[in-house]
Amino acid sequence: VDVNQFNHDLLHWFYENKRDLPWRKTQNPYYIWISEIMLQQTQVDTVIPYYERFIKTFPTMEDLAYADEETVLKNWEGLGYYSRARNLQQGVREVVEEYDAKIPETRKEILSLKGVGPYTSGAILSIAYNVPEPAVDGNVMRVLSRVFMIDDDITKVKTKKHFEDIVYRLIPHTDPSGFNQSLMELGALVCKPRQPECLTCPLQKHCLAYDEGVQHEFPVKKKK
Ligand code: ADE
Ligand code: SF4
Repeated sequence: VDVNQFNHDLLHWFYENKRDLPWRKTQNPYYIWISEIMLQQTQVDTVIPYYERFIKTFPTMEDLAYADEETVLKNWEGLGYYSRARNLQQGVREVVEEYDAKIPETRKEILSLKGVGPYTSGAILSIAYNVPEPAVDGNVMRVLSRVFMIDDDITKVKTKKHFEDIVYRLIPHTDPSGFNQSLMELGALVCKPRQPECLTCPLQKHCLAYDEGVQHEFPVKKKK
């Protein structure tokens, strides 16, 4: 791949086509954290009103850290997967107590927080702090598996690491935030699971699966 051309095409498309989502109006790492936790198992449209209310109810990490768990869960009601809310509050308490209410800026430190795995850690570092770390979720694996025709089983942990290695090689140090979000956005709007819109895709000329007409065969889940 021509990495420069790939990034130019991808980021140019992103800045012309990205959705106006509320968490894209902020660089506050705490708000980015909340949004990424909510978005992990819940659709964007559902998350929006919950996110807006949550940051109004708990505008600072101290507000969330010192709130009753019951109040936090009330504000999560309807989103499901309530351990996400408990872990988020626990993680925020750790930041308030151990890091003086400042979310740390290294992968190792962020990863040590309750409820924060590689995806969330990479999302916070890249989106809030512009650190060139991968944030590989299902959308990103789908896009990259098609572009590079990677037929590894995406349900395996090792496969996710493989995609993270690919992102490390592609991610531009000039705009890590835009790069990660553009892959997520492309997966949501264009390189969709069932009907990828290859004809209008900014990565079409870089896409090996499109070239071979096999985009529907990727990503691979569980090899037979
Ligand atoms: N899904 C996960 N993270 C996202 C983000 N930051 N924007 C849009 N969709 C997402
Ligand atoms: Fe996905 Fe098609 Fe674009 Fe390839 S050309 S990245 S398969 S939408």
